[in-house]
Amino acid sequence: MTVLPDPDVVAGLDHWRTLHAGQQPTWPDPDALAVATAELAASPPLVFAGEADRLRDLLGRAGRGEAFLLQGGDCAETFAEATADRIRNKIKTILQMAIVLTYGASLPVIKMGRMAGQYAKPRSSDDEARDGVVLPAYRGDAVNAHDFTPESRRPDPQRMVRAYHTSAATLNLIRAFTAGGFADMRRVHEWNRGFMANPAYARYEALAAEIDRAIRFMAAAGADFDGLRTVEFFSSHEALLLDYERALTRFDSRTGHPYDCSAHFLWIGERTREIDGAHVDFLSRVTNPIGVKLGPSTSAETALALQDKLNPDGVPGRLTFITRMGAGRIRDVLPSLVEKVEAGGNPVTWVCDPMHGNTFAAPSGYKTRDFGVVLDEVKGFFEVHSALGTVPGGLHVELTGDDVTEVMGGSEEIDDIGLSRRYETLVDPRLNHQQSLEMAFQVAEMLRER
Ligand code: PEP
Ligand code: CO
Repeated sequence: MTVLPDPDVVAGLDHWRTLHAGQQPTWPDPDALAVATAELAASPPLVFAGEADRLRDLLGRAGRGEAFLLQGGDCAETFAEATADRIRNKIKTILQMAIVLTYGASLPVIKMGRMAGQYAKPRSSDDEARDGVVLPAYRGDAVNAHDFTPESRRPDPQRMVRAYHTSAATLNLIRAFTAGGFADMRRVHEWNRGFMANPAYARYEALAAEIDRAIRFMAAAGADFDGLRTVEFFSSHEALLLDYERALTRFDSRTGHPYDCSAHFLWIGERTREIDGAHVDFLSRVTNPIGVKLGPSTSAETALALQDKLNPDGVPGRLTFITRMGAGRIRDVLPSLVEKVEAGGNPVTWVCDPMHGNTFAAPSGYKTRDFGVVLDEVKGFFEVHSALGTVPGGLHVELTGDDVTEVMGGSEEIDDIGLSRRYETLVDPRLNHQQSLEMAFQVAEMLRER
Protein backbone atom coordinates (compact mmCIF):
# COMPACT_ATOMS: atom_id res chain seq x y z
CA MET A 1 0.00 0.00 0.00
CA THR A 2 1.26 3.45 -0.88
CA VAL A 3 1.46 5.90 2.00
CA LEU A 4 0.92 9.45 0.82
CA PRO A 5 3.17 12.19 2.21
CA ASP A 6 1.85 14.65 4.75
CA PRO A 7 1.08 17.95 2.94
CA ASP A 8 2.96 19.93 5.61
CA VAL A 9 6.03 17.79 5.02
CA VAL A 10 5.77 18.44 1.29
CA ALA A 11 5.44 22.19 1.81
CA GLY A 12 8.35 22.19 4.27
CA LEU A 13 10.71 20.93 1.59
CA ASP A 14 10.58 24.39 0.03
CA HIS A 15 11.01 26.37 3.23
CA TRP A 16 14.73 26.81 2.48
CA ARG A 17 13.74 29.18 -0.33
CA THR A 18 12.85 31.78 2.30
CA LEU A 19 16.23 31.47 4.06
CA HIS A 20 19.77 32.53 3.30
CA ALA A 21 21.38 30.02 0.95
CA GLY A 22 25.13 30.47 0.71
CA GLN A 23 27.25 29.44 -2.25
CA GLN A 24 24.45 29.29 -4.84
CA PRO A 25 25.27 30.22 -8.43
CA THR A 26 23.73 33.32 -9.91
CA TRP A 27 21.73 31.61 -12.63
CA PRO A 28 21.38 34.19 -15.39
CA ASP A 29 18.07 32.93 -16.78
CA PRO A 30 15.28 31.97 -14.30
CA ASP A 31 13.20 30.32 -17.04
CA ALA A 32 16.07 28.05 -17.98
CA LEU A 33 16.46 27.13 -14.30
CA ALA A 34 12.77 26.22 -14.10
CA VAL A 35 13.06 24.03 -17.20
CA ALA A 36 16.07 22.19 -15.79
CA THR A 37 14.59 21.58 -12.35
CA ALA A 38 11.31 20.38 -13.90
CA GLU A 39 13.31 17.91 -15.97
CA LEU A 40 15.11 16.66 -12.85
CA ALA A 41 11.89 16.44 -10.87
CA ALA A 42 10.40 14.20 -13.56
CA SER A 43 13.46 11.89 -13.65
CA PRO A 44 13.83 8.57 -11.84
CA PRO A 45 15.58 8.55 -8.45
CA LEU A 46 19.28 7.63 -8.45
CA VAL A 47 19.09 5.76 -5.15
CA PHE A 48 16.31 4.18 -3.14
CA ALA A 49 14.93 4.86 0.30
CA GLY A 50 15.68 1.34 1.51
CA GLU A 51 19.35 1.72 0.56
CA ALA A 52 19.60 5.00 2.46
CA ASP A 53 17.97 3.36 5.50
CA ARG A 54 20.45 0.51 5.33
CA LEU A 55 23.32 3.00 5.23
CA ARG A 56 21.90 4.84 8.21
CA ASP A 57 21.94 1.61 10.20
CA LEU A 58 25.53 0.95 9.18
CA LEU A 59 26.61 4.46 10.13
CA GLY A 60 24.88 3.98 13.47
CA ARG A 61 27.11 0.95 13.94
CA ALA A 62 30.17 3.01 13.02
CA GLY A 63 29.14 5.48 15.71
CA ARG A 64 29.17 2.66 18.26
CA GLY A 65 32.50 1.22 17.15
CA GLU A 66 30.96 -1.77 15.36
CA ALA A 67 31.95 -0.65 11.84
CA PHE A 68 34.28 1.88 10.22
CA LEU A 69 33.47 4.27 7.38
CA LEU A 70 35.76 4.81 4.40
CA GLN A 71 34.47 7.70 2.31
CA GLY A 72 36.65 8.73 -0.61
CA GLY A 73 36.78 10.26 -4.03
CA ASP A 74 37.45 13.43 -5.95
CA CYS A 75 37.21 16.89 -4.53
CA ALA A 76 35.22 17.67 -7.67
CA GLU A 77 34.14 15.07 -10.19
CA THR A 78 34.13 16.27 -13.78
CA PHE A 79 32.10 15.18 -16.79
CA ALA A 80 35.29 14.65 -18.79
CA GLU A 81 36.63 12.20 -16.23
CA ALA A 82 33.47 10.14 -15.85
CA THR A 83 35.04 7.43 -18.00
CA ALA A 84 34.95 3.69 -17.35
CA ASP A 85 38.69 3.59 -16.62
CA ARG A 86 38.72 6.45 -14.16
CA ILE A 87 35.63 5.25 -12.33
CA ARG A 88 36.96 1.70 -12.16
CA ASN A 89 40.32 2.89 -10.82
CA LYS A 90 38.62 4.89 -8.11
CA ILE A 91 36.38 1.99 -7.03
CA LYS A 92 39.38 -0.31 -7.11
CA THR A 93 41.40 2.03 -4.89
CA ILE A 94 38.60 2.33 -2.34
CA LEU A 95 38.10 -1.46 -2.30
CA GLN A 96 41.84 -2.04 -1.89
CA MET A 97 41.98 0.40 1.01
CA ALA A 98 38.89 -1.15 2.55
CA ILE A 99 40.44 -4.63 2.76
CA VAL A 100 43.45 -3.30 4.59
CA LEU A 101 41.27 -1.27 6.94
CA THR A 102 38.92 -4.20 7.54
CA TYR A 103 41.88 -6.25 8.66
CA GLY A 104 43.35 -3.43 10.75
CA ALA A 105 40.09 -2.59 12.47
CA SER A 106 38.72 -6.14 12.61
CA LEU A 107 35.45 -4.46 11.71
CA PRO A 108 33.23 -4.24 8.66
CA VAL A 109 34.22 -1.23 6.55
CA ILE A 110 31.43 0.84 5.03
CA LYS A 111 32.52 1.81 1.52
CA MET A 112 31.31 5.15 0.25
CA GLY A 113 32.40 7.16 -2.78
CA ARG A 114 32.56 10.91 -3.03
CA MET A 115 31.21 9.84 -6.37
CA ALA A 116 28.18 9.92 -8.65
CA GLY A 117 27.15 13.47 -7.76
CA GLN A 118 30.14 15.44 -6.46
CA TYR A 119 29.75 18.12 -9.12
CA ALA A 120 29.26 21.37 -7.18
CA LYS A 121 31.84 23.30 -5.19
CA PRO A 122 31.75 26.11 -2.65
CA ARG A 123 34.28 28.83 -3.51
CA SER A 124 35.96 31.52 -1.46
CA SER A 125 34.89 34.18 -3.95
CA ASP A 126 32.06 34.55 -6.46
CA ASP A 127 34.49 35.80 -9.07
CA GLU A 128 37.94 35.02 -10.34
CA ALA A 129 40.25 37.67 -11.77
CA ARG A 130 43.07 36.93 -14.19
CA ASP A 131 45.12 39.68 -15.81
CA GLY A 132 42.44 42.24 -15.13
CA VAL A 133 39.62 40.07 -16.51
CA VAL A 134 36.92 39.18 -13.96
CA LEU A 135 34.64 36.18 -14.55
CA PRO A 136 32.39 34.05 -12.33
CA ALA A 137 34.37 31.48 -10.32
CA TYR A 138 34.27 27.83 -11.39
CA ARG A 139 31.61 26.23 -9.16
CA GLY A 140 31.82 22.65 -10.40
CA ASP A 141 30.68 20.96 -13.59
CA ALA A 142 27.04 21.04 -12.44
CA VAL A 143 27.19 24.84 -12.71
CA ASN A 144 29.77 26.02 -15.24
CA ALA A 145 32.94 24.96 -17.07
CA HIS A 146 36.49 25.50 -15.89
CA ASP A 147 37.97 27.28 -18.96
CA PHE A 148 38.51 30.93 -18.27
CA THR A 149 36.16 32.36 -20.91
CA PRO A 150 32.85 34.19 -20.43
CA GLU A 151 30.91 31.42 -22.23
CA SER A 152 32.41 28.64 -20.11
CA ARG A 153 31.99 30.41 -16.82
CA ARG A 154 28.37 31.38 -17.40
CA PRO A 155 26.22 29.23 -15.05
CA ASP A 156 24.01 26.95 -17.14
CA PRO A 157 21.23 25.01 -15.32
CA GLN A 158 21.23 22.32 -18.03
CA ARG A 159 24.55 21.32 -16.49
CA MET A 160 22.60 20.06 -13.46
CA VAL A 161 20.68 17.78 -15.82
CA ARG A 162 23.97 16.56 -17.24
CA ALA A 163 25.29 16.04 -13.70
CA TYR A 164 22.24 13.86 -13.01
CA HIS A 165 22.79 11.72 -16.13
CA THR A 166 26.52 11.42 -15.52
CA SER A 167 25.81 10.41 -11.92
CA ALA A 168 23.36 7.78 -13.19
CA ALA A 169 26.00 6.36 -15.55
CA THR A 170 28.59 6.37 -12.76
CA LEU A 171 26.24 4.63 -10.35
CA ASN A 172 25.41 2.06 -12.98
CA LEU A 173 29.10 1.17 -13.25
CA ILE A 174 29.50 1.18 -9.48
CA ARG A 175 26.57 -1.20 -9.11
CA ALA A 176 27.89 -3.48 -11.85
CA PHE A 177 31.44 -3.55 -10.50
CA THR A 178 30.44 -4.18 -6.92
CA ALA A 179 27.80 -6.83 -7.59
CA GLY A 180 29.87 -8.86 -10.04
CA GLY A 181 33.09 -10.78 -9.42
CA PHE A 182 35.17 -7.61 -9.76
CA ALA A 183 34.92 -6.76 -6.06
CA ASP A 184 35.73 -10.30 -4.88
CA MET A 185 37.94 -9.93 -1.82
CA ARG A 186 40.45 -12.46 -3.14
CA ARG A 187 40.83 -10.50 -6.34
CA VAL A 188 41.14 -7.16 -4.56
CA HIS A 189 43.82 -8.72 -2.41
CA GLU A 190 45.73 -9.72 -5.56
CA TRP A 191 45.79 -6.07 -6.56
CA ASN A 192 47.26 -5.19 -3.18
CA ARG A 193 50.01 -7.73 -3.85
CA GLY A 194 50.89 -5.67 -6.93
CA PHE A 195 51.25 -2.61 -4.72
CA MET A 196 53.44 -4.49 -2.27
CA ALA A 197 55.79 -5.59 -5.03
CA ASN A 198 57.15 -2.04 -5.06
CA PRO A 199 60.18 -1.86 -2.69
CA ALA A 200 59.12 1.64 -1.61
CA TYR A 201 56.43 0.01 0.52
CA ALA A 202 58.59 -2.63 2.20
CA ARG A 203 57.65 -1.30 5.65
CA TYR A 204 54.11 -2.61 5.17
CA GLU A 205 55.22 -6.11 4.24
CA ALA A 206 54.53 -7.65 7.62
CA LEU A 207 50.96 -6.39 7.70
CA ALA A 208 50.40 -7.38 4.07
CA ALA A 209 51.70 -10.87 4.80
CA GLU A 210 49.25 -11.22 7.69
CA ILE A 211 46.36 -10.22 5.46
CA ASP A 212 47.60 -12.66 2.86
CA ARG A 213 47.60 -15.48 5.41
CA ALA A 214 44.12 -14.55 6.59
CA ILE A 215 42.76 -14.67 3.06
CA ARG A 216 44.50 -17.94 2.30
CA PHE A 217 43.14 -19.38 5.51
CA MET A 218 39.61 -18.44 4.50
CA ALA A 219 40.11 -19.96 1.07
CA ALA A 220 41.57 -23.16 2.53
CA ALA A 221 38.69 -23.40 4.97
CA GLY A 222 36.33 -23.22 2.01
CA ALA A 223 34.82 -19.88 2.94
CA ASP A 224 32.86 -18.81 -0.08
CA PHE A 225 30.07 -16.57 1.00
CA ASP A 226 28.52 -13.52 -0.61
CA GLY A 227 30.44 -11.22 1.70
CA LEU A 228 33.63 -12.27 -0.06
CA ARG A 229 32.30 -11.83 -3.56
CA THR A 230 30.21 -8.68 -3.52
CA VAL A 231 30.31 -5.42 -1.61
CA GLU A 232 27.84 -2.71 -0.75
CA PHE A 233 29.04 0.61 -2.07
CA PHE A 234 27.28 3.88 -1.30
CA SER A 235 27.29 7.24 -3.08
CA SER A 236 27.69 10.65 -1.49
CA HIS A 237 28.32 14.29 -2.28
CA GLU A 238 28.11 17.74 -0.75
CA ALA A 239 24.49 18.88 -0.90
CA LEU A 240 25.34 22.33 -2.15
CA LEU A 241 22.99 23.17 -5.02
CA LEU A 242 19.64 23.20 -3.34
CA ASP A 243 17.71 23.48 -6.60
CA TYR A 244 19.28 20.18 -7.64
CA GLU A 245 18.77 18.43 -4.31
CA ARG A 246 15.16 19.57 -4.00
CA ALA A 247 14.32 18.46 -7.53
CA LEU A 248 15.64 14.96 -6.81
CA THR A 249 13.72 14.53 -3.58
CA ARG A 250 11.11 11.74 -3.64
CA PHE A 251 8.65 10.24 -1.19
CA ASP A 252 9.07 6.68 0.00
CA SER A 253 5.87 4.89 -0.90
CA ARG A 254 6.19 2.64 2.20
CA THR A 255 6.25 5.48 4.71
CA GLY A 256 5.53 8.75 2.87
CA HIS A 257 8.86 10.13 4.15
CA PRO A 258 10.98 12.30 1.85
CA TYR A 259 14.44 11.16 0.70
CA ASP A 260 16.95 13.14 -1.31
CA CYS A 261 17.43 10.50 -4.00
CA SER A 262 20.49 12.16 -5.58
CA ALA A 263 22.75 10.06 -3.31
CA HIS A 264 22.66 7.76 -0.31
CA PHE A 265 24.52 10.22 1.93
CA LEU A 266 24.63 14.01 1.67
CA TRP A 267 26.79 16.36 3.65
CA ILE A 268 26.70 20.07 4.45
CA GLY A 269 30.00 21.86 3.90
CA GLU A 270 31.93 23.95 6.38
CA ARG A 271 30.85 27.11 4.54
CA THR A 272 27.12 26.45 4.39
CA ARG A 273 26.33 25.00 7.79
CA GLU A 274 24.71 28.16 9.25
CA ILE A 275 22.17 26.97 11.75
CA ASP A 276 19.38 29.17 10.36
CA GLY A 277 20.48 28.82 6.76
CA ALA A 278 18.88 27.08 3.82
CA HIS A 279 21.17 24.02 3.71
CA VAL A 280 20.60 23.01 7.32
CA ASP A 281 16.87 23.56 6.93
CA PHE A 282 16.56 21.50 3.75
CA LEU A 283 18.62 18.58 5.00
CA SER A 284 16.76 18.58 8.32
CA ARG A 285 13.68 17.57 6.31
CA VAL A 286 14.99 14.61 4.30
CA THR A 287 15.37 11.17 5.79
CA ASN A 288 18.80 10.17 4.41
CA PRO A 289 21.81 9.81 6.66
CA ILE A 290 23.61 13.16 6.51
CA GLY A 291 26.89 14.71 7.52
CA VAL A 292 28.16 18.13 8.52
CA LYS A 293 31.74 19.28 8.12
CA LEU A 294 33.13 20.90 11.25
CA GLY A 295 36.21 23.12 11.03
CA PRO A 296 38.49 24.30 13.85
CA SER A 297 36.35 27.31 14.80
CA THR A 298 33.26 25.18 15.55
CA SER A 299 31.95 25.73 19.06
CA ALA A 300 30.30 22.98 21.05
CA GLU A 301 27.14 25.14 21.15
CA THR A 302 27.05 25.16 17.35
CA ALA A 303 27.53 21.41 17.15
CA LEU A 304 24.81 20.80 19.73
CA ALA A 305 22.45 23.14 17.88
CA LEU A 306 23.15 21.26 14.65
CA GLN A 307 22.28 18.01 16.39
CA ASP A 308 19.02 19.46 17.73
CA LYS A 309 18.02 20.63 14.31
CA LEU A 310 19.27 17.74 12.18
CA ASN A 311 18.67 14.80 14.49
CA PRO A 312 16.14 15.88 17.11
CA ASP A 313 15.06 12.28 17.74
CA GLY A 314 18.62 11.04 18.26
CA VAL A 315 18.44 8.37 15.56
CA PRO A 316 21.77 6.49 15.44
CA GLY A 317 23.49 6.91 12.07
CA ARG A 318 21.32 9.83 10.99
CA LEU A 319 24.05 12.40 11.70
CA THR A 320 27.78 12.23 11.10
CA PHE A 321 30.16 14.98 12.14
CA ILE A 322 33.08 15.13 9.73
CA THR A 323 35.82 17.04 11.55
CA ARG A 324 38.48 18.82 9.48
CA MET A 325 40.55 20.68 12.00
CA GLY A 326 44.03 20.66 10.53
CA ALA A 327 46.87 18.55 11.91
CA GLY A 328 48.19 21.50 13.90
CA ARG A 329 44.91 22.15 15.69
CA ILE A 330 43.10 18.83 16.07
CA ARG A 331 44.68 17.88 19.40
CA ASP A 332 43.74 21.28 20.85
CA VAL A 333 40.25 21.84 19.54
CA LEU A 334 38.70 18.41 19.06
CA PRO A 335 38.73 17.15 22.68
CA SER A 336 36.38 19.76 24.16
CA LEU A 337 34.08 19.61 21.14
CA VAL A 338 33.75 15.84 21.35
CA GLU A 339 33.41 15.90 25.10
CA LYS A 340 30.57 18.43 25.12
CA VAL A 341 28.72 16.82 22.25
CA GLU A 342 28.98 13.39 23.85
CA ALA A 343 27.77 14.84 27.15
CA GLY A 344 24.59 15.91 25.34
CA GLY A 345 23.76 12.24 24.82
CA ASN A 346 22.48 12.53 21.23
CA PRO A 347 24.33 9.86 19.21
CA VAL A 348 26.64 11.04 16.45
CA THR A 349 29.19 9.31 14.25
CA TRP A 350 32.61 11.01 14.28
CA VAL A 351 34.57 10.92 11.04
CA CYS A 352 37.95 12.48 10.23
CA ASP A 353 38.54 14.51 7.07
CA PRO A 354 42.32 15.01 7.24
CA MET A 355 42.41 16.87 3.93
CA HIS A 356 40.62 20.21 4.15
CA GLY A 357 42.41 21.61 7.19
CA ASN A 358 45.81 20.93 5.63
CA THR A 359 45.82 22.65 2.26
CA PHE A 360 48.58 25.12 1.35
CA ALA A 361 50.24 26.67 -1.67
CA ALA A 362 53.62 25.12 -2.53
CA PRO A 363 56.45 27.48 -3.56
CA SER A 364 55.74 26.43 -7.16
CA GLY A 365 52.24 27.85 -6.73
CA TYR A 366 50.39 24.52 -6.78
CA LYS A 367 47.70 24.05 -4.16
CA THR A 368 48.82 20.95 -2.31
CA ARG A 369 48.82 18.94 0.92
CA ASP A 370 51.58 17.03 2.63
CA PHE A 371 51.05 13.30 3.04
CA GLY A 372 52.78 13.19 6.44
CA VAL A 373 50.69 16.07 7.74
CA VAL A 374 47.46 14.48 6.48
CA LEU A 375 48.38 11.26 8.29
CA ASP A 376 49.20 13.25 11.40
CA GLU A 377 45.66 14.62 11.52
CA VAL A 378 44.31 11.06 11.35
CA LYS A 379 46.68 10.12 14.16
CA GLY A 380 45.47 13.08 16.21
CA PHE A 381 41.88 12.02 15.58
CA PHE A 382 42.55 8.54 16.98
CA GLU A 383 44.50 9.96 19.92
CA VAL A 384 41.72 12.34 20.90
CA HIS A 385 38.99 9.70 20.72
CA SER A 386 41.11 7.17 22.52
CA ALA A 387 41.84 9.61 25.37
CA LEU A 388 38.13 10.42 25.73
CA GLY A 389 36.91 6.85 25.32
CA THR A 390 34.80 7.91 22.33
CA VAL A 391 34.58 6.26 18.94
CA PRO A 392 36.57 7.23 15.85
CA GLY A 393 34.02 6.17 13.23
CA GLY A 394 35.75 6.65 9.92
CA LEU A 395 37.77 8.50 7.37
CA HIS A 396 36.80 11.00 4.67
CA VAL A 397 39.47 11.50 2.00
CA GLU A 398 40.03 13.12 -1.36
CA LEU A 399 41.61 10.56 -3.62
CA THR A 400 41.77 9.31 -7.15
CA GLY A 401 42.66 5.92 -8.58
CA ASP A 402 45.16 7.42 -10.99
CA ASP A 403 48.85 8.27 -10.66
CA VAL A 404 48.43 12.00 -10.34
CA THR A 405 50.97 14.19 -8.49
CA GLU A 406 48.93 16.60 -6.41
CA VAL A 407 49.77 15.79 -2.76
CA MET A 408 53.41 16.05 -1.68
CA GLY A 409 55.23 13.30 0.19
CA GLY A 410 54.54 9.59 0.52
CA SER A 411 57.12 6.81 0.33
CA GLU A 412 57.47 7.47 -3.38
CA GLU A 413 58.20 11.06 -2.45
CA ILE A 414 56.53 13.74 -4.55
CA ASP A 415 58.33 17.05 -4.07
CA ASP A 416 57.45 20.56 -5.17
CA ILE A 417 58.97 20.06 -8.61
CA GLY A 418 57.25 16.68 -8.92
CA LEU A 419 53.83 18.28 -8.49
CA SER A 420 53.93 19.62 -12.05
CA ARG A 421 54.34 16.14 -13.54
CA ARG A 422 50.68 15.24 -13.42
CA TYR A 423 48.64 17.84 -11.58
CA GLU A 424 45.08 17.42 -12.85
CA THR A 425 42.60 18.40 -10.18
CA LEU A 426 40.40 21.40 -10.89
CA VAL A 427 39.90 22.14 -7.20
CA ASP A 428 41.66 20.40 -4.27
CA PRO A 429 44.72 18.09 -4.44
CA ARG A 430 43.93 14.38 -4.15
CA LEU A 431 45.91 11.42 -2.86
CA ASN A 432 46.96 9.30 -5.82
CA HIS A 433 46.46 5.54 -6.01
CA GLN A 434 49.69 4.65 -4.21
CA GLN A 435 49.33 7.34 -1.56
CA SER A 436 45.78 6.13 -0.87
CA LEU A 437 46.97 2.57 -0.31
CA GLU A 438 49.83 3.77 1.83
CA MET A 439 47.36 5.75 3.91
CA ALA A 440 45.24 2.61 4.36
CA PHE A 441 48.26 0.66 5.66
CA GLN A 442 49.19 3.42 8.08
CA VAL A 443 45.64 3.85 9.31
CA ALA A 444 45.31 0.06 9.68
CA GLU A 445 48.30 0.18 12.00
CA MET A 446 46.67 2.96 14.02
CA LEU A 447 43.43 0.97 14.21
CA ARG A 448 45.25 -2.07 15.50
CA GLU A 449 46.88 -0.05 18.23
CA ARG A 450 43.58 1.20 19.57
C1 PEP B 1 35.12 19.48 0.30
O1 PEP B 1 34.80 18.48 0.94
O2 PEP B 1 35.58 19.44 -0.86
C2 PEP B 1 35.01 20.80 0.97
C3 PEP B 1 34.85 21.93 0.29
O3 PEP B 1 35.13 20.68 2.31
P1 PEP B 1 34.81 21.69 3.49
O4 PEP B 1 33.36 22.03 3.40
O5 PEP B 1 35.16 20.88 4.69
O6 PEP B 1 35.71 22.88 3.32
CO1 CO C 1 37.89 19.48 -1.46
